[in-house]
Amino acid sequence: MSQLVDALYADHRRIEAKLDEVDRVARGPWSPFPTAFFEEMISFVKDFADGEHHHREETILFPALVQAGVPVEHGPIAVMLHEHDLGRDCMRRIRENLDAAKGGDEAAAAAVFTAATEYTELLRAHIWKEDNVLFPLANRLLTGAVAA
Ligand SMILES: [Fe+2]
Ligand SMILES: [Fe+2]
Repeated sequence: MSQLVDALYADHRRIEAKLDEVDRVARGPWSPFPTAFFEEMISFVKDFADGEHHHREETILFPALVQAGVPVEHGPIAVMLHEHDLGRDCMRRIRENLDAAKGGDEAAAAAVFTAATEYTELLRAHIWKEDNVLFPLANRLLTGAVAA
């Protein structure tokens, strides 16, 4: 299991590199609207940050912690699951506004940049909590468990 945790730490570094790019783009200039950048961000999150990384946390790590006695409804796992959902909501807002933003709608463009900035703030804080609280807890509780 510690191999899984090591892999999840490494995923965080790759996700943070993408968050740095998003923050750079979100600082502007906002015109022309960077459609290709946001399409690429959507793919990155769908295929990797959410589709692979959060999926592995939700289907392997969190259930193992619950098995080890960490409560699922209150405490760190509930917070992590809630934050994964908040991130999905940011990405939904980016997807829903992207076409209009591409077409020159300034309110839609602003909605994309706002959701993208919220996403980076949320994910940075989320990653900090996992790196410094949840993953060390996992390494303590799950040492000796079957390697993933
Ligand atoms: Fe997470
Ligand atoms: Fe994570």
